[in-house]
Amino acid sequence: FHVSWNAEAAEKGGYEHFMLKEIHDQPKAVRDTFGTHISEDGKTAIFDELNWTADDVAAFNKILIVACGTAYHAGLVTKQYIESLARISVNVEIASEYRYSNPLTDDKTLCIVISQSGETSDTLAALKEAKRLGAKSLAITNVVGSSISREADNTVYTWAGPEISVASTKAYTTQLVAGLLFAVYLGQLNGKMDPALGEEILCGVKNLPTLIHEIFEVDEDMKAFAKHYGFKSDAFFLGRAIDYAVAMEGALKLKEISYIHAEAYAGGELKHGTLALIEEGVPVIALATQEDVYDKMISNIREVKAREAVVIGIGMKGDEELSKHVDHTIYVPRANKFIAPILAVVPLQLLAYYAAITRGADVDKPRNLAKSVTVE
Ligand code: AGP
Repeated sequence: FHVSWNAEAAEKGGYEHFMLKEIHDQPKAVRDTFGTHISEDGKTAIFDELNWTADDVAAFNKILIVACGTAYHAGLVTKQYIESLARISVNVEIASEYRYSNPLTDDKTLCIVISQSGETSDTLAALKEAKRLGAKSLAITNVVGSSISREADNTVYTWAGPEISVASTKAYTTQLVAGLLFAVYLGQLNGKMDPALGEEILCGVKNLPTLIHEIFEVDEDMKAFAKHYGFKSDAFFLGRAIDYAVAMEGALKLKEISYIHAEAYAGGELKHGTLALIEEGVPVIALATQEDVYDKMISNIREVKAREAVVIGIGMKGDEELSKHVDHTIYVPRANKFIAPILAVVPLQLLAYYAAITRGADVDKPRNLAKSVTVE
C-alpha cells in the first residue's frame, strides 16, 4: 500500500491549481476580513486599530489611493465607496506614475496604499513620497509586518491568508471588503452617510460568504464558455460605474493567465473608438449589476450585438430583461450595489481560470510575471 503525497499538493487542498483553491477560499477570506470590523448589533463599522474621531476625519480634505495592478483596481472601487458614502474626494493613482508626477499631496491628504504583499516597490516608494509631502497614511495589506505596513502610519489588514497564485483573487475581494467597511466607517464619523444605508451595507457584507458560495454554481457555465471562446484572440469587458472597475479586473485576469488580449471599456466610451473593433463573433463580457446605469448598459449591449459580438451578460438574479439582449446570462445573487462588485468578479475569475486551462497555460505561474514585484 502506497500513499503518494507531496507538500505542494497538500497545500492546494485537493484543487488542481492554487488559483482555483484561492477562488474557493473567498467565502472564508471575506469572513475573516470583516471579522472584528462589524459591531455585534450589525449597525457600526469598527476599526479599533485606527480609533479615529470625527476631528481626525475632518483633518483631511482629500484622499489619495495608490496601488498597482489588481490592488489598483480595488482602489478604483474603493474610490466609489468613499465618495458615495463619506462624500470625500478621492484620487486613485498607479503607484509607478504617482511617484514621478510631482503630485499635489499635502498635509490635508490621507494617502491609502493597497498591496496584497506589502512589498511592491513602486507602492512602497509612492507611500514614502506621500509621507514626505505631509500626508497621513493608511495601508491596506495582507501581510503582517510587511515593508508597507511598517512604513504606513496605520494598517488595516485583509485576512485572505497566503495567496500563492500569481493571479490575485481572494486578495482583491478582501481588499474590496476592507475598502467598503472603511468607507462606511468614514461616513459614520463625518455624518455624510444615511445610517440606514450603512446598516444595509454591513448586513450585505455579513452575507457575502453565503452569496459567494452560491456563485460557485456557475463553475460549469464558465468552463463551457472558456472552451467555446478560449481560442479567440481578443475579448472585451464592458461596464459602467463600479462595474467598469470590475471589468478592468476581469480583463487583467484574462490577459495575465490565458494570454488572450482583453480590454475593458466604460460603456459610454464605446462610440469614441472601440466600437470599430467589434465584429462578428468577438466575445464581449458585459456587466450589468448597477441599477443607476442599467438602461445605459443595455443600450451599449445592443450596440455591440448589432455588430454581431457574442455577449455574455453578468447580471443580478431575477433580471429577466438582461437575457433578452445577450447570448448567455450569468447571474450573481441580488445584492446592494456596493456589494455587487464583490460578487460580479467571481465569475470573471473563473472564466480566466478556465480559459487558461483551455489554452494549456501555466495557470499559477504565468509567463514573464512574478507574484511580488519588488524591483522597479
Ligand atoms: C494580480 O493578478 C497581479 N498579479 C498584480 O497585478 C498584483 O495585483 C500587483 O502586482 C500588486 O501586487 P501587490 O498587491 O502585492 O502590491
